[in-house]
Amino acid sequence: MNKKRIAILISGRGSNMAALIGASVAPNYPAQIVGVLSNIAGAAGLDLATAAGIATATIPHRNYSSKPAHEGAINAQLDAWRVDLVCLAGYMRLLTPGFAERWAGRLINIHPSLLPKYKGLDTHARAIAAGDTEHGCTVHFVTAEMDGGPIIAQARVPVLAGDTAEALARRVLAEEHKLYPKALAMVASGEARMTPR
Ligand code: GRF
Repeated sequence: MNKKRIAILISGRGSNMAALIGASVAPNYPAQIVGVLSNIAGAAGLDLATAAGIATATIPHRNYSSKPAHEGAINAQLDAWRVDLVCLAGYMRLLTPGFAERWAGRLINIHPSLLPKYKGLDTHARAIAAGDTEHGCTVHFVTAEMDGGPIIAQARVPVLAGDTAEALARRVLAEEHKLYPKALAMVASGEARMTPR
């Protein structure tokens, strides 16, 4: 099987990254994780990746004078890994339109809300404050518009009476860990494609 070569970009704990790595070891999974890149030195996910035998790179944004310069260094590493597809998994930097354009159709993200609801941060608290009865997560293609690209897949969870943002986040995260591997498989196999607008 000709597996797609995947890089995962993280900034923190890396639980979605770990879910992707876990799924990718199945012989019939259409993607292999060839590298994990963090913009934050010491991100917990880097240790998990190393323990799984996956190459890692740390490219701190603070070392670069501009966002395009930082992204140039990221692209150089992705090219060195011969990456086909990029997964954002808790990568906490907004990317430039130029980066999104370069990777158009080959760059995906997981976001903890039922997009187009609750783009940006604090999604769980906002869903509770709005009185929503359901919440969830979305995997989508990344475009220049933050959290705005075409949706690949979603998973829903109920909002329960008395839910705190933390409790709801935990329930959503458990779904994220199932949804992201499914959505990546859909993209890697060609089942999901980004059609140009
Ligand atoms: C997840 O909730 C993801 O949806 C969001 O950031 C969080 C990252 O968590 N984009 P982790 O690093 O994957 O554990």
